[in-house]
Amino acid sequence: MKKSVPVWILLLFVLSVSCTTTKIENKGTESFVPPVSYEKAGEKADSLMALMTLDEKLEMIGGFERFYIKGIKRFNLPDIYLSDATQGVHIRRTQDGSLLGGTIEKSTAFPCPISLAATWNPALANDYAKSIGEECRAGGVAVLLGPGMNNYRISQCGRNFEYFGEDPFLAARMVEKYVIGVESTGTISTLKHFIGNNTEFMRRRSNSIISERELHEINMPAFEAGVNAGAMAVMTAYNLVDGEWCGQSTFVIDTLLRHYLGYKWLVMTDWNSVWDGEKVIKSGQDLEMPSGKAIANAKELLDSGKVSIDDINGMVKKILQTCFAMNVYNRPQSDPELLSKFPEHEQTALDVAREAIVLLKNSGNILPIDTTKDQHILVTGKFAELLARGRGSASVEGYDTVNMMDALKEVFGQQVEYVEHPDDAAIKNADLVILSTGTDDSESWDRPFALPASEEDNIMRIVNTNPNTIVIVNSGGGIKMTDWSDKAAAIVYAWYPGQNGNIALAEVLSGKTNPSGKLPISIEKKFEDSPGYPYLPAGEKLFSGRPGDREFSYPVYDIHYNEGVFVGYRWYDSKNIAPLFPFGYGLSYTTFEYDNLDITPENFNDGDNVTVSFEVKNTGNKAGAETAQIYVNDEESSVPRPEKELKGFKKIMLQPGETKTVEVVLNKRSFAFWDTKTHNWLEEPGAFKILVGSSSRDISLTGEVTLD
Ligand code: BGC
Repeated sequence: MKKSVPVWILLLFVLSVSCTTTKIENKGTESFVPPVSYEKAGEKADSLMALMTLDEKLEMIGGFERFYIKGIKRFNLPDIYLSDATQGVHIRRTQDGSLLGGTIEKSTAFPCPISLAATWNPALANDYAKSIGEECRAGGVAVLLGPGMNNYRISQCGRNFEYFGEDPFLAARMVEKYVIGVESTGTISTLKHFIGNNTEFMRRRSNSIISERELHEINMPAFEAGVNAGAMAVMTAYNLVDGEWCGQSTFVIDTLLRHYLGYKWLVMTDWNSVWDGEKVIKSGQDLEMPSGKAIANAKELLDSGKVSIDDINGMVKKILQTCFAMNVYNRPQSDPELLSKFPEHEQTALDVAREAIVLLKNSGNILPIDTTKDQHILVTGKFAELLARGRGSASVEGYDTVNMMDALKEVFGQQVEYVEHPDDAAIKNADLVILSTGTDDSESWDRPFALPASEEDNIMRIVNTNPNTIVIVNSGGGIKMTDWSDKAAAIVYAWYPGQNGNIALAEVLSGKTNPSGKLPISIEKKFEDSPGYPYLPAGEKLFSGRPGDREFSYPVYDIHYNEGVFVGYRWYDSKNIAPLFPFGYGLSYTTFEYDNLDITPENFNDGDNVTVSFEVKNTGNKAGAETAQIYVNDEESSVPRPEKELKGFKKIMLQPGETKTVEVVLNKRSFAFWDTKTHNWLEEPGAFKILVGSSSRDISLTGEVTLD
């Protein structure tokens, strides 16, 4: 484990004490404004704290009963319930079976967040999150423990399904809408896990060593966007950053989060993730969850002068101020009227699934399948009868769940037949085979990029036996498809679809829905190609299931983020490695053409906006949606910069033959990199290429703009 703190971190710490907050430009047009202002809520907190005993304060800064912030009866402050997570409300029960938090027995299982990113539709992120916020309010959840947004660095990470993919710009645009959606319902939204939690393998023993540029350019922008959108809680990560656990790191909390991102509300630890009471109290942390185990020695620390009452008061104040600002104390904890909104939430879940499915391959236009034809479609594989879903704290059971077979029968009727273990003859005789595969991803462990050998063998056998095989992948991230992708007739990436997302899958297969999802990740040919490889300690292998006590007996090990800012497609571009499927890629049943690129002004000054406009035409004979992507390349730079970086996108619906003009405004941040000399964003004069296309590797239009 690295012991010494790098000089730049010390320097940043000094700067954080002496400078004003960095100018922030990573921002959408709106942000959430709480019902009670920060100042007013602060005054209320001060008044109450003047009456609180030390014991009451100490009880408040450590959670209780796993998911609560303790209230104070004599002041009529109720206990505050916190619950997971980004893809819906995790219904929890006590040991005697009663519901934690109160009233809702069920919650909607939404498609997983990485699939939300695959929609490239921020408006959907708002609707999705608003629905979850309403279910929180219905169920007495005052604080949603989401959105999760650690960037996709390693395809094997067990929690990729909970996050928004590899690109900081795409993630930022989705997260800001997510935060506004949740908080518009009066539910506090928690950005997690701050920061550098990019693996689940021994996460409490992982010391992420990340360069300053990578932190600011890759890891933090989604958090920054969430902060700017008005998120009122942040959860620190399990891992260490530069030798200290995030939940007790002054650098992480005070410098990165509070100083650089200008965050002012509540910070909480992840569950059982801090160990040293003095450090926790001194770091800027406000709340230890799920109990105050590490800070149990707070009184001794106070007596010995190692921490002061001001430190404790600072923590209590943030909790109270956040809760007062959102009015969570003086309203009924549950709002049963919102139960009537469940049908709307189901509809939103379905709408997201429709736009999230990514068509990766469609040889000879085998898709869509003609529903009227007399044909035999054999369905087999892992998730045909079992709903694929991500597990861990993000788990949501859902209700009235629709598995793949249910949905296919509804659309294809007698044409489809499920066979658990089809022999070669059955496979050969089928007109089409729909083969389901994928992975069971979860918090607490990483899973291999390659499918188990028996699963690979089965896929190979089927695609080799019947050339009309359509493979459906349900997974939370990339899987190895290299050996069979050229043999499968079609590949459909359907992620974890949520309770009714298989309906959308059947619609895509039958052509009722024209697929429009695009990959929010690059899918490598082999894991060794990827920027995160290798990340396991020498000699270690992935394990399956929770590490349990093994994790605590394990030494802390360093993970060097040697790729720097070259994450995802930035990496594959710089190394000249072709991924199997590139970032931003996804097919449609129609075709699009790009034309007439116009960039104004051609020469601009530092801080000016640049408007990029172009036309997109639907050249096929089906209505469809296209996500146009705008990448920027700095042609002359004093530091190594990626070949292209996503800086804008727009999803547009086009009727056959229709043309629309797309306009995207680029701002200072679109051209800047994080300068480690000034510790700020810097735009360097010179020429920038503007690349417009339908994926990171399918650029149709190229222009240039110059910063004078
Ligand atoms: C997870 C958090 C989650 C918490 C509470 C932890 O294991 O890392 O994301 O919010 O549990 O369920």
